[in-house]
Amino acid sequence: MSEAFYSHARLYDLMFPGGGPAVDFYRADANRQGGRVLELGCGTGHKLIPIASDGHPCVGLDFSSDMLAEAQRKANERGTAVEWMQGDMRAFDLGRTFDFVFITANSLLHLHEAEDLVNCFRSVRRHLAPGARFVFDVFNPSVRLLAEADGVRRTRESFMDPDRGDVSVDVAEIYDAPAQVTRGTWYLSTNSEPDFVVAPLEIRSIFPQELPLLVSLGGLRLVERFGDWSGRPFAVDTPLQLCICESA
Ligand SMILES: C[S@@+](CC[C@H](N)C(=O)[O-])C[C@H]1O[C@@H](n2cnc3c(N)ncnc32)[C@H](O)[C@@H]1O
Repeated sequence: MSEAFYSHARLYDLMFPGGGPAVDFYRADANRQGGRVLELGCGTGHKLIPIASDGHPCVGLDFSSDMLAEAQRKANERGTAVEWMQGDMRAFDLGRTFDFVFITANSLLHLHEAEDLVNCFRSVRRHLAPGARFVFDVFNPSVRLLAEADGVRRTRESFMDPDRGDVSVDVAEIYDAPAQVTRGTWYLSTNSEPDFVVAPLEIRSIFPQELPLLVSLGGLRLVERFGDWSGRPFAVDTPLQLCICESA
């Protein structure tokens, strides 16, 4: 349901410019681990291009041909080699193993069914070399914040598009509690072009108690769960569930 949102890759990069502690975290982890790297839901390569530029052989897999085309363009511009592949993280077979596999920026939360998450973890496991690590980050759901989603359209932010000028971003969200999915619509507008993009974005919540169970059903073991990019332990008030896993 979120494909349309990712069919505007250039706008995505203007809205979410990347960089920051998440890139530093994954880059340091890839360097510590060494060897071959696979990112699932790699988008336009915010994390994978810096990791590849450190000298690791990298593969990036994503559903969206638009995001992959932008990733390829940016990697070419920087003279960095990455193998970009179109595919579905729920079921993939690349015919080789990796030393470091990761899924970042809530990409995993595009899988809404528990079965899809487990299938994804099983596919990951088949691609782990001996001693490999699988790391992913998802937000730590706050029941209070989820319950505040009332379907009302509100301006959330704005950014500068060199072609269009100032773009304002409105979002309307409701929380579908039985599905554990926040169903949003994102509206991008300029003064002269109201709502030039209207796209759904639907993000699941993974609650803290179910997370280790889903991981273990996928044949993996949750070794550690951090709560933020500094490595603070996961707790009720930390923003993230930053999970370090290995084969069970
Ligand atoms: C929030 S973006 C994150 C992109 C990138 N990881 C980053 O850190 O900027 C989520 C990405 O997941 C991709 N995605 C969603 N569902 C997917 C699936 N089933 N298989 C592969 N990629 C998927 C989207 O196309 C999108 O590029």
